[in-house]
Amino acid sequence: MTAQLIDGVALSRQIRTELAQRAAALSAAGHTPGLAVILVGDNPASQVYVRNKVKACHDTGLHSVLEQYPASMTEQELLARVRALNEDASIHGILVQLPLPAHIDAHKVIETISPVKDVDGFHVASAGALMVGQEGFKPCTPYGCMKMLQAIGCNPRGKHAVVIGRSNIVGKPMAMLLLQANATVTVCHSGTPDLAYHTRQADIVVAAVGKRNVLTADMVKPGAVVIDVGMNRNDEGKLCGDVDFEGVREVASAITPVPGGVGPMTITMLLVNTVEAAERVAA
Ligand code: GUN
Repeated sequence: MTAQLIDGVALSRQIRTELAQRAAALSAAGHTPGLAVILVGDNPASQVYVRNKVKACHDTGLHSVLEQYPASMTEQELLARVRALNEDASIHGILVQLPLPAHIDAHKVIETISPVKDVDGFHVASAGALMVGQEGFKPCTPYGCMKMLQAIGCNPRGKHAVVIGRSNIVGKPMAMLLLQANATVTVCHSGTPDLAYHTRQADIVVAAVGKRNVLTADMVKPGAVVIDVGMNRNDEGKLCGDVDFEGVREVASAITPVPGGVGPMTITMLLVNTVEAAERVAA
């Protein structure tokens, strides 16, 4: 079997086309969705990410503001900027790009973002809402993974899903979303003694570790759906995920490529959350 490719670029295009219409309707009503992106320091990867986010806003008809500050910015200065954006009616979503310089407490910064503008879904209020099934913003990467499952007609209900990774940004919220969708969920991590034992039983595997070849063909049940959240470089410097793509695609029924899989969906779901934030204000 050669797996179906779950094309995150094509799915993103489809979602963004629909979003552009919602954004245009909001603009016509005087509520152009606005995203503020704050970047502190000169991390080259972060610079690429924030540029892509701002470009995606522009292409979809959202207003965006990119605020760039030197790594010497103090925590107090950053908190003051976040508080000002909380009060800014033209801004519906606030994103502070991580990682932050070591002298700034990222938790404190995230907790200062108003939960109604927390389009990254990182605030404890958003995490808590997800936990208890209340309305809140879902973190963009796991939200995008759920959309990809939906796009191929994979309903998690009754399925065994194995999430590899327990980060606050991907692993934990991914497990919650799958649970909410009535999957039986196993969360594996660096302390799991026999990862393959778990993954071989999975109907859905989500790999979110940040390490190459965490999932190989012998670890996958034939016909499983595999979502690869990883973003790594191989020995030739080429972008690759956590999954041994060439091996696993011969066993799985569907798989996301890297690049062109989960990556574009993360930005798309940020736009979705920002438009939704504006719609809540406009309602
Ligand atoms: N750094 C890497 N990914 C992300 C993300 O999705 N949001 C923020 N704020 N920072 C990140």
